Amino acid sequence: MAAPSVVPALIPTVGSTSPDLQSILDINRAAYDMLAGTYKGTAEARQENAKKWLTQRLPEITASGHPTALDVGCADGTHSRVLSALGYTVTGIDFSARMISAARELMDDPTLPNKPSLLHGEFLAGRYVDEDGTDAPLDGARFDLVLATAFVHLFPPEADDDAVRKVLSHVAPGGTALLSTTAALSNRQGLEMKAGAGGQVARRWRNHYTLEYFVWLVREAARDVYGTKVPVQPWVVVDPDAEGKLWVDVVVTRPA
Ligand SMILES: C[S@@+](CC[C@H](N)C(=O)[O-])C[C@H]1O[C@@H](n2cnc3c(N)ncnc32)[C@H](O)[C@@H]1O
Repeated sequence: MAAPSVVPALIPTVGSTSPDLQSILDINRAAYDMLAGTYKGTAEARQENAKKWLTQRLPEITASGHPTALDVGCADGTHSRVLSALGYTVTGIDFSARMISAARELMDDPTLPNKPSLLHGEFLAGRYVDEDGTDAPLDGARFDLVLATAFVHLFPPEADDDAVRKVLSHVAPGGTALLSTTAALSNRQGLEMKAGAGGQVARRWRNHYTLEYFVWLVREAARDVYGTKVPVQPWVVVDPDAEGKLWVDVVVTRPA
């Protein structure tokens, strides 16, 4: 999808040739496998932050409702766990075996009323297996809430558009999608080093979008997937853990 001229296209930060999509997915999977162990030390603090942030952003759950949620790129399950405690029946997916295993460990808690179902698999391919290794397809599955936080910016251009469309297509009529990324001053993309909380460093693909570009990306995808123009609400959020870092949350409601 070509960006209009007021929304500058992403420019590469490295070289003129990029690895193909499969190579980027492999690089990213290896990065998150490596970083999984470093998420552990910060899980509690991230859960506290996520609880405050998600309760502000999401529709209120009514006592009679039994809402469902899909957490795309759930990593160690922090958000899945918070959603579950809020009353959602949660499915979390991630392609990093180590992240899914960290998420299963986090859910191994008898006080958690409704344990999320955690599936291992790659999102664009859409093939998942559950804890027993049994196929658990989500084709056509729709959820009241779909969360894709710090996720679509990991796909190279065109594939990020496919990822946004797929996120939106998993939303049930009247349901909500919440997509988030960091807000950059200019668009750029490429393979970048990512430092984990434990000091490990891993290389992975990353798009940095301006607020305008990200909102445009989601708005265009929503119009195509839902067949009509829908309101796309952006929120700018200051990162509680990184000075000067801004996040943008984009909330989309699928027409009922
Ligand atoms: C930056 S982390 C974000 C985790 C969490 N959503 C959050 O906001 O804290 C991205 C997660 O998405 C997963 N991921 C990245 N690309 C994926 C893909 N193509 N399919 C499934 N999971 C993917 C990674 O393994 C990683 O756990």
